[in-house]
Amino acid sequence: MEKIIVNGGNRLKGEVSVSGAKNAAVAILPAVLLCDEICRIENVPSISDVNVIVRILYELGASVKVIDNSTVEIDPSGINSFMLPASMSTKMRASSYFIGAMLGRFNRAKVAPPGGCDFGVRPIDQHIKGFETLGATVTIDGGMVNAYAKELIGGSVYLDKVSVGATVNIMLAAVKAKGLTVIENAAREPHIVDLANFLNSMGADIMGAGTNVIKIRGVNYLHSTTYSIIPDQIEAGTYMIAAAITGGELLIKNVIPKHLESISAKLEEVGATIEEFDEAVRVKMDGRPKCCNVLTMPHPGFPTDMQPQMTTLLALADGVSIMTEGVWDNRFKYVDQLTLMGAKVKVDGKVAVITGVEFLSAAPVRATDLRAGAAMILAGLAADGQTEIDNIEFIDRGYDNIVEKLSAVGADIKRREFIDPNERRAAI
Ligand code: UD1
Repeated sequence: MEKIIVNGGNRLKGEVSVSGAKNAAVAILPAVLLCDEICRIENVPSISDVNVIVRILYELGASVKVIDNSTVEIDPSGINSFMLPASMSTKMRASSYFIGAMLGRFNRAKVAPPGGCDFGVRPIDQHIKGFETLGATVTIDGGMVNAYAKELIGGSVYLDKVSVGATVNIMLAAVKAKGLTVIENAAREPHIVDLANFLNSMGADIMGAGTNVIKIRGVNYLHSTTYSIIPDQIEAGTYMIAAAITGGELLIKNVIPKHLESISAKLEEVGATIEEFDEAVRVKMDGRPKCCNVLTMPHPGFPTDMQPQMTTLLALADGVSIMTEGVWDNRFKYVDQLTLMGAKVKVDGKVAVITGVEFLSAAPVRATDLRAGAAMILAGLAADGQTEIDNIEFIDRGYDNIVEKLSAVGADIKRREFIDPNERRAAI
């Protein structure tokens, strides 16, 4: 069992390069199913969620060639199964994208319900509504989502809730459907635009991605492509907060500054200086952060996936901040861990009241999910003493080489192997 050990107190200084976007990669990789020719995908992040998807593609019959640690070539022509058993799908949320992709390829899909981080109930009713609009019959039986259509025919679907997953899944199912599909109240996240750009690079006809109305005119055939995934907005945002929380200065490279605007705005509000370049941002912080209020919202609002990291910064702010979670029902589970380090945070439903303290103290803590794990690292970087973070497999799902990247800019952070006392007893 590995843990991450952080000795806090170092001011970070230097340059850090951001990897490809996790949430774009986990949509783009299943989308290769819609094509029968080789797809070369570049700027793929080296994270465990991507490994899971690539493994699924391989087990379904695709041939996969790893060119280097951020480039893969996938030949999906050998895929002939529309089944994704629980052993493959429950490891991550994005496995639900195989429903849309398989429907698009085979007009049918049988996929065990997806897993992923636990933020309370994670329904897929809007995905199903979209598939039904395209003419599919969807049932859930024997623990599997079954979708079948004699023929997929475009239609108009209004999402009752702005959903990234439903928008992706409906796009995937609609790309080769007959006629025009319109998604209204669509999600506008950067990874939605990236998926549309990827599909269009293979010959799809998708317009409006990045706005709340996406129009997809079905095409018969998608051809091979070479495509480079956009940089990860949340990884970049996490390093921006790493600079701010350590009173340091980081040049964060390989980013799209436009995607970081909501994060930059809040960091400026708490006193950081942000400089934007074409493909980089510099974040500098002197002194203690000021307090501020944050509401997470779908893009272009402040991202929910930056909520734990921002709460951690505000835990050290001068004054009282209010963090309101506007996307998920239950995304404050990590607060108990933060309070072990001396943070003063009171949660009432979707609202956290954060009374800033002058310092955090190291403690043994655990990652309760992916971004909460990143928040524990940030807290450890700022805390006095040695913080030990458990359950780091959550962090490895979405951060490419985070320990190496932070070490290179002055953090005292490492992975250490621990023997679980229960395992040791069992071995004796
Ligand atoms: C994606 C991201 C996740 C991020 C989230 C919100 C991926 C792989 N994951 O998750 O990191 O936190 O967007 O930005 O891209 N909802 C419904 N019915 C549905 C679908 C969703 O009610 O059919 C609700 C959810 O419960 C939630 C909200 O809509 O309250 C947003 O969910 P959604 O955007 O679908 O999140 P994911 O795609 O699962």
